[in-house]
Amino acid sequence: MPDTSPISPISLAGRDFISDLDFSISETEAVLELASRLKQEYRAGKPHPLLRDKTLAMLFFFTSTRTRGSFEAGMAQLGGHAAFIDSDTTQISHGDTAKEIGQIFGRYFNAIAIRQCDWGFGNRYINEVAQHSPAPVLNMQCDVYHPFQILADLLTIREYKGKHLKGRKIAVSWAYAASYQKPISVPQSLIIQLARFGMDVVLAHPPEYTLMPEILQQAEQGARQSGGSFRITHDMDEAFENADVVYPKSWGCMLTTSDLKESAEIGKQYTGWICDERRMALAKPDAIYMHCLPADRGLEVTDAVIDGPQSVVYEEAENRLHVQKAVMAMTMGGVAPA
Ligand code: CP
Repeated sequence: MPDTSPISPISLAGRDFISDLDFSISETEAVLELASRLKQEYRAGKPHPLLRDKTLAMLFFFTSTRTRGSFEAGMAQLGGHAAFIDSDTTQISHGDTAKEIGQIFGRYFNAIAIRQCDWGFGNRYINEVAQHSPAPVLNMQCDVYHPFQILADLLTIREYKGKHLKGRKIAVSWAYAASYQKPISVPQSLIIQLARFGMDVVLAHPPEYTLMPEILQQAEQGARQSGGSFRITHDMDEAFENADVVYPKSWGCMLTTSDLKESAEIGKQYTGWICDERRMALAKPDAIYMHCLPADRGLEVTDAVIDGPQSVVYEEAENRLHVQKAVMAMTMGGVAPA
């Protein structure tokens, strides 16, 4: 007899996942539980075709290594199929609206995953598609949030530091990079998700690199409700002191200027904001170093740190696969395998 029991006592069937806060704490816990189970089964070579014959549209307006690879591999491992759709190859530039994408892809596919990071537009676009889609819409990163990255980060932190994160300090710090103006979605999602899971969240950045005021308020509110804490400093060293987790990465100063030349000039004042061995020594001896990748090596972080014993970046990247499979299985529907 096939096992047709629900994959989790909590149902997320048909739900969108666009903001980190779309799932309650108990729903997020259920996702992490399933992700851990799927990770164990994957490592043991045990198949888990929870989404047999189901399909996912992956609509990308922006480049990706990990997100594309992990969603595509994840859908195949769940017994379904993921269609990679580069927006440049669609008729979107010739007039297909967000409503039409929602209505049409939502009929072809069992879920629509979208990466649209354009500042001031991406989140609005994804929400508009969701408003018109009969199928769930999953945010593969927008200008405001990167919720799947932070689910993977949370799973990774729990694997290294335990499930009870109250009293654990994380330094979410800006770091210098020269490659491009990276979205602010990773630090924003980090502070709102980890504050509500009870961590002591310290956000460090030069004054020009502020995050969105409503996101800062959500982080403060989450910390108040969880018994954790949230504060901002402009001193990277101070943020690192006694931290259990350090997460230094670059982001753009979008809230200060939209001029790319000016933002590059602002960034050059802060080339000293790098994660090196001296700074790692300020954190706890067993602190872990995290980065969502890709990193600007030699600028955001030294090779000695990112390739060193405290770095968990590969485990973190792997966990993208497991949390995404859990969310897809729970939102797109599925039953436990035989
Ligand atoms: N961390 C992350 O989202 O990686 P990609 O941009 O390569 O998908």
